[in-house]
Amino acid sequence: MSFSILASAADGAGTPAWAMLAYLIAGVFFILALRGLSSPASSRAGNRYGMLGMLIAVVTTLATHEIANIAEIGIAMSLGGVIGVTVARKIAMTAMPELVAGFHSLVGLAAVVVGLAAWLDPASFGITDAAGQILMVSRVELGLGIAIGAITFSGSVIAFLKLSGRMSGNPILLPMRHVINLGTLVAILGMIAAYAMSGAGGGGEGQMIIYITIAAFLIGFLLIIPIGGADMPVVVSMLNSYSGWAAAAMGFTLGNTAMIITGALVGSSGAILSYIMCRAMNRSFISVIAGGFGADDSSGGGEAREARPYKQGSAEDAAFMLEQAEKVIIIPGYGMAVAQAQHALREMCDMLEEKGVEVKFAIHPVAGRMPGHMNVLLAEASVDYDKVFELEDINSEFAQADVAFIIGANDVVNPAAKTDKSSPIYGMPVFDVDKAKQVFFIKRSMGGVGYAGVDNDVFYMNQTVMLLSDAKKMVEEIVKALD
Ligand code: TAP
Repeated sequence: MSFSILASAADGAGTPAWAMLAYLIAGVFFILALRGLSSPASSRAGNRYGMLGMLIAVVTTLATHEIANIAEIGIAMSLGGVIGVTVARKIAMTAMPELVAGFHSLVGLAAVVVGLAAWLDPASFGITDAAGQILMVSRVELGLGIAIGAITFSGSVIAFLKLSGRMSGNPILLPMRHVINLGTLVAILGMIAAYAMSGAGGGGEGQMIIYITIAAFLIGFLLIIPIGGADMPVVVSMLNSYSGWAAAAMGFTLGNTAMIITGALVGSSGAILSYIMCRAMNRSFISVIAGGFGADDSSGGGEAREARPYKQGSAEDAAFMLEQAEKVIIIPGYGMAVAQAQHALREMCDMLEEKGVEVKFAIHPVAGRMPGHMNVLLAEASVDYDKVFELEDINSEFAQADVAFIIGANDVVNPAAKTDKSSPIYGMPVFDVDKAKQVFFIKRSMGGVGYAGVDNDVFYMNQTVMLLSDAKKMVEEIVKALD
């Protein structure tokens, strides 16, 4: 296939002014998309802005470049479109992180393929000097783009395999892994520098690019295998960021402004999201990417826990107390997602409101297993956005709540985060459910733990009643009892 579609974009100066303006407008739409996606109420509009921006960018690129074979492009776009729509319709909400990881692997691979194409036929990409050698700045862009793309590809494949359960989520800890990883990264940077200064042309000259590609594929695997399954959402967001930087680097090679803008937006927003997630879990970014979390029993997962007395209740007990209450705060967590209890929960909420009870939802920034996990599930069940509150906006209200209703959440209500310096979640901001008059806690068994694998004092508080059952089943029974 000819590379002319890519090559003709190579000279930014040759791009007509209207196309530059169109790329700028597309960039503005991408920024509006990010802004829209920051709140559930505006997220649909955000998605539409993103689609519109992408449409403008694609149409502009096609209109301003000599297309070798429009039929080929049409077939590729239709195929991709059909696969995209089918996957999006079929995918379960809980499988979203693995889908995103899968998509990122393709972005990484695309960057590698474009980079290798430019290396093989640099003249058609317009990145050669008068002597036919690849420009030094383009050699740096190629080296970086290919390296970041390859790391994104292999890292995302491992993240996908771990998240989808095709590979154990346990960290795989190689001896001296930090030395090996750091050594390989330094070697890759060294090879990029050597390639940039080599003065090699294209068409297979400068074998260094092959070594860079192989080493980067390898380091992608090595960097991700020591990271435990539960840290994968941070990793997926980090790989998202890498894929953006790879695309931006390729945007420079192709002289495509829209690609540079989108790549930079994806790169920086992914990095910010990773940082926000780490902060909300009170983990340092370095400790996540260094891996090993949950590899030993120090996180509490394997510890034999001392048996302590607790109260157990039934759906009827909960229904009785809930309808007596004036104010109920519901804290959903990962278990609600697993049980798919959001629809039953909405029904319960509607019935309580009919009985004059004030109901609010409290969402922790890292409840569930991906950013916005709970917001998406509640929106899917048509829970009003104005009943859904962030941690810092609602935490002070627990003191006035008659009931804190915890459904499938655990770590995000664990007071050890405030008091126990040895706890793996120490420092993570948590809901003050202990201040509520009555606490109902839905989980399947007393043995089960949350992501951090630690016991939770809330189970044993005087005002806590454990509702031990699958979340959906329990809420459906409460709904029946309320009826
Ligand atoms: P977790 O602490 O993981 O607790 C989940 C609870 O759900 C457990 O108590 C589990 O107990 C229960 N559960 C599981 N399946 C259930 C079912 N079918 N019915 C009823 N209960 C069920 O959840 P959380 O409070 O949402 O906290 C999230 C954790 O994930 C945090 O530690 C956070 O740091 C971590 N994390 C989050 C993210 C993002 S971005 N959200 C990313 C990485 C890590 P049983 O097994 O006994 O039922």
